Amino acid sequence: MNIAVFASGRGSNFQAILDAIDAGILPARVVVLISNKSEAGAVEIARARSISTQHLSQKMFSSEEELADAMLEVLKKNHAEFIALAGYLKKIPAHVIRQYRNRIINIHPALLPSFGGEGMYGHHVHEAVIARGEKVSGATVHLVDEEYDRGPMILQKTVDVMPDETPDSLAEKVLKVEHEIFPLALKAFAEGRVKVEGTKVWIT
Ligand code: GRF
Repeated sequence: MNIAVFASGRGSNFQAILDAIDAGILPARVVVLISNKSEAGAVEIARARSISTQHLSQKMFSSEEELADAMLEVLKKNHAEFIALAGYLKKIPAHVIRQYRNRIINIHPALLPSFGGEGMYGHHVHEAVIARGEKVSGATVHLVDEEYDRGPMILQKTVDVMPDETPDSLAEKVLKVEHEIFPLALKAFAEGRVKVEGTKVWIT
């Protein structure tokens, strides 16, 4: 399976995908890394491995449609069959979602449907979880549809939230499980083991 990875930040989830491919766990290859930040750590990771990179940001285009067309062109040129959002902080244009329906997944650092939606990213998520007194948190892999963090869920894994937990310590624990379940979800897609029926997703 040819994967396009979209990332805005340091790229540890992107690295986890590459590690799973290297270890022979994930039968796929990353054909392109698309980022809205030209200096992102993820871009460095791709360059170091000679993976093709593309900087695409809304600022470079006058409309969402133009950005979508540029994204689709890059995806087509690199023969991308699947999209993995690995810490991508921008909304994917609706036109791209339509073209890749049920073939785009995202990793979120909380147990959706709680603690998701616009503005719920990075530390905001972990701060909100602790402020609410939650006893468990975790990570969720879900299909991407037109709304932030709302698509059908594919895999979740929990972590305990301890009484002395800080947003930093929670982020670290959750990131570890992100790195486990994101490549596993991709593996299930690459092996054709994911069934989608409306809002329900099964891994067989
Ligand atoms: C992760 O916590 C991910 O869940 C969120 O953004 C963070 C990205 O981290 N969407 P990294 O860039 O993969 O290290």
